[in-house]
Amino acid sequence: MTGLFITLEGPEGAGKSTNREYLAEHLRRAGLDVLLTREPGGTPLAERIRELLLAPSAEAMAADTELLLVFAARAQHLAEVIRPALARGTIVLCDRFTDATYAYQGGGRGLSVERIASLEQFVQGSLRPDLTLVFDLPVEVGLSRAAARGRLDRFEQEGQAFFEAVRQAYLARAKAEPKRYRLVDAGQSLAQVQQSLDGLLPEILERCRG
Ligand SMILES: Nc1ncnc2c1ncn2[C@@H]1O[C@H](COP(=O)(O)OP(=O)(O)O)[C@@H](O)[C@H]1O
Ligand SMILES: [Mg+2]
Repeated sequence: MTGLFITLEGPEGAGKSTNREYLAEHLRRAGLDVLLTREPGGTPLAERIRELLLAPSAEAMAADTELLLVFAARAQHLAEVIRPALARGTIVLCDRFTDATYAYQGGGRGLSVERIASLEQFVQGSLRPDLTLVFDLPVEVGLSRAAARGRLDRFEQEGQAFFEAVRQAYLARAKAEPKRYRLVDAGQSLAQVQQSLDGLLPEILERCRG
């Protein structure tokens, strides 16, 4: 038995965390075993790496350091949580995964796709998400939602151009592989976003039971 690996992607303030709960509730009601997790993080050790990644610090973090820390956290998360859950037949709903690396470290920081792809292969082998929901919204809207949440982390302190590049990287990936990605218009009201998710649920349920 093998589970299903679903990832939620998009910038800060897109509604990933809010809607992850919403999806989990629906899937559980349908009798499925669901595990919620997030990146960077998802295990105590990986959460410590997350703190290193998110904390603003006086010493600028080199882009390569950032990339390697992201994948170090991911290796731990895969070994301790994701792979065992999938092996048990669980549906894993993960808030961000490697698409975020392509978007932030690739699009945002300008690291090459080839370098990211080689680490992806090294850390994940052939494992890729079965389905990826990309929560897309205008950069200003996401930033203002994130700002309303409180103190800004190291990524949230980046400017408009960084987040525009993040957004374009996500959109390009979704466009290149339409079978894996579903775009969600996250700029709508929460009720409207959840209506769009309701529209996707039959397909998600079908895949889960597949
Ligand atoms: N569609 C929406 N419209 C307005 N506010 C929203 C919407 N979705 C989420 N929010 C709010 O925006 C903030 C960020 O949402 P969150 O789910 O934490 O986003 P993310 O996890 O993608 O950063 C929260 O305060 C949340 O209540
Ligand atoms: Mg979140």
